[in-house]
Amino acid sequence: MALTLPSDLVRAIENLLTKQFSLRLSDGRSLAEHVKRLSDYYLKFPYATTPWQEKWCQIAQLVYFLPLNYLRIQAAWSRLPWKLDVLPVSQWTDVGCGLSPMGWYLHLNSLIKDVRLFLYDHDPIPLKMLRLMGLPFQQMKQPNWATEPKSSHGASFTFVLTELEKDEQRDKWHKGLWQFPFLFIVEPGLQHDGRYLLKIREEALKNNYFVLAPCTHHQPCPLKQHSKTDWCHDRVLISIPEWMKELQHYLPFKNHSLTFSYLILTTLPALKNHYESTVLSASKARVIGDTLNLKGKIQQAVCWNDTRSFLTYLKRDINSQAILTDLTRGQIIDIPSSMTVQGTKERLEIRLKSTK
Ligand SMILES: C[S@@+](CC[C@H](N)C(=O)[O-])C[C@H]1O[C@@H](n2cnc3c(N)ncnc32)[C@H](O)[C@@H]1O
Repeated sequence: MALTLPSDLVRAIENLLTKQFSLRLSDGRSLAEHVKRLSDYYLKFPYATTPWQEKWCQIAQLVYFLPLNYLRIQAAWSRLPWKLDVLPVSQWTDVGCGLSPMGWYLHLNSLIKDVRLFLYDHDPIPLKMLRLMGLPFQQMKQPNWATEPKSSHGASFTFVLTELEKDEQRDKWHKGLWQFPFLFIVEPGLQHDGRYLLKIREEALKNNYFVLAPCTHHQPCPLKQHSKTDWCHDRVLISIPEWMKELQHYLPFKNHSLTFSYLILTTLPALKNHYESTVLSASKARVIGDTLNLKGKIQQAVCWNDTRSFLTYLKRDINSQAILTDLTRGQIIDIPSSMTVQGTKERLEIRLKSTK
């Protein structure tokens, strides 16, 4: 099902756009100019920090990057193997928050009722904009990058690690990640960022984390093990409101789906236990690619251990009960017991047998 934006977020965006910039969401052509300018800036300077002092950047972040990153974050939350109704922490920090799509997500889904939300960005402008928009939060002046673990703190880093890549603070940040027992990291679904997250996954496992999503196992990542170029990323369909379609009409790029790479990590015992008993111990796999319709057979990339695995079934078996159809990316499936496995450590074919 396609993801949609919550009306409360759209209202908050529209109010600020009118009050602060004397623009409306229906001003598609003019909004698109600002979005194009910021996209060009990011393309030209991929590791540069967001130029918040520029009005065109503020507008582009407000009407384009905030809503689309909100949808990506919403999609990543939905990839947890079970729904969290309350956050398992007492404090959450969104680091490099910008207009904090994560803060909005936690707020609008009532996930921070009893949790203190701290926002940190080295630039004060997005925090001022967020106050005017009415997001409840506390401002963090400077994070404490101490490395001792904090017992019940969660943190998010969304679309920020790339900006930190050239930052002299980067090593401090990097080590500082492991003080948070619940970590939520999202990056663009691009090769460089996706492979960077594979390295973070490896370090997380060494630091006793469980990867709640996207992985269903804790063996080495097959994409990192057996390829120098592949990376783990997800794609979701989105359904955007009319004003955003109008805005996109004036852009050279259109988004009918969104890609992202992500990691949801924890050391919290309750979550680890639940994950261990429901996901790790079972033959669960995650669908990690689009379904390929090949001659005589259907093929689907799945991740379930350290091999590159493909579920394959013959078209003539399509009515068999053993066949899993309509698989979508990100879905967790049980690997059926009626299967034959053939191939090598690098590439495994799981052939589903007909039960007819
Ligand atoms: C691409 S934006 C992402 C904003 C937001 N997290 C999101 O998901 O839309 C990156 C943010 O990181 C902030 N940032 C970059 N370097 C930083 C640093 N060294 N310390 C704190 N914030 C930083 C920028 O000001 C910017 O708001």
